[in-house]
Amino acid sequence: MTFLKNAWYVAAFAEELAAEPLFRRLLDEQVCLFRGESGAAHAVGDVCPHRFAPLHEGKVVGETIQCPYHGLRFDGSGACAHNPHGDGRVPTAAKVAGYPVVERHSAIWIWMGDAARADPALIPDFSILDQEDRFVFIRLHLHSDGAYQLISDNLLDLSHVEFLHPFLANQTNPGEPHFEMTSDETSVTSTYVTTGADKTGLYEATWPEGPERIDTLSIIKWQAPSFCFGHMRARPAGANDWAEESYGPNMHMITPETASTAHYFWAGGYRRDLESAEFTEQFRANAEAIFVGEDLRIIAAAQTNMGTDDLLGLKPVILGVDAAAVRARRILDGLIKAEAGL
Ligand code: FES
Ligand SMILES: [Fe+2]
Repeated sequence: MTFLKNAWYVAAFAEELAAEPLFRRLLDEQVCLFRGESGAAHAVGDVCPHRFAPLHEGKVVGETIQCPYHGLRFDGSGACAHNPHGDGRVPTAAKVAGYPVVERHSAIWIWMGDAARADPALIPDFSILDQEDRFVFIRLHLHSDGAYQLISDNLLDLSHVEFLHPFLANQTNPGEPHFEMTSDETSVTSTYVTTGADKTGLYEATWPEGPERIDTLSIIKWQAPSFCFGHMRARPAGANDWAEESYGPNMHMITPETASTAHYFWAGGYRRDLESAEFTEQFRANAEAIFVGEDLRIIAAAQTNMGTDDLLGLKPVILGVDAAAVRARRILDGLIKAEAGL
């Protein structure tokens, strides 16, 4: 099995789900997301059990979605709540999957496993995204033509920054790198420090008062199945303490679409006191250029070359910098096997 089912995933950013229903393929299931007239988010299977029309092309009536073909209505539990035909009796088979949904931390979370186990307390703590007074957040929903695990690999291995991302590492003097990896049963933390680097484009923008030579600290914490909490800081080269004004949060929520493609929800923040429309636009453009033009481009090319989502089965060369990514893969693999009773 490729996915951990009993887990919360992001189905959409809250702002993506407006009055119109939304189609998403998630964990290889076709899902219709919609907001009822109360504003509450719901998620049901997208394929109508009558003549298999796509429910997301229908319309919202009360807290139900009405099929665009013959008007059966389904509530958030997937039950048929209304049959406009004949005596209005609802056939037993007239139901679709209903998925538990919670709106939190500016995202809509979905549980696609056993609904009885969908405890909202298990939603990963992305509460930093609620700190709107402190940060201006940019949110991107990107599509990955590569498996979700390849994105976690990419984030846990920040050695690629020096080679792939000119904006994030100074190419002429990227600084001395140091890596460290720690882990427990369900999470892996990768720490990447560079010392004595020339200031990068990123810190020119987000820490304008910082000096020209800096040390940088990037911490990525991975949590199963596919979340990465990124914390970036800098300090004047050789200083003892990281400058709090340089801090920027970088949150990555990855949801499998199919075995070899994924939805990549990213939210990054910059200091509220630097806020301007131009800064926001530039920050968004830079993030898009990095994730779409660099990370996801190379991940898609690698996925094509791999031809499978079983990376370790291909016996790849393992470098020292891969320790965190390999550990995360082993944890996830263990969880998926345990869920399948293997
Ligand atoms: S296809 Fe949905 S009601 Fe007929
Ligand atoms: Fe990257």
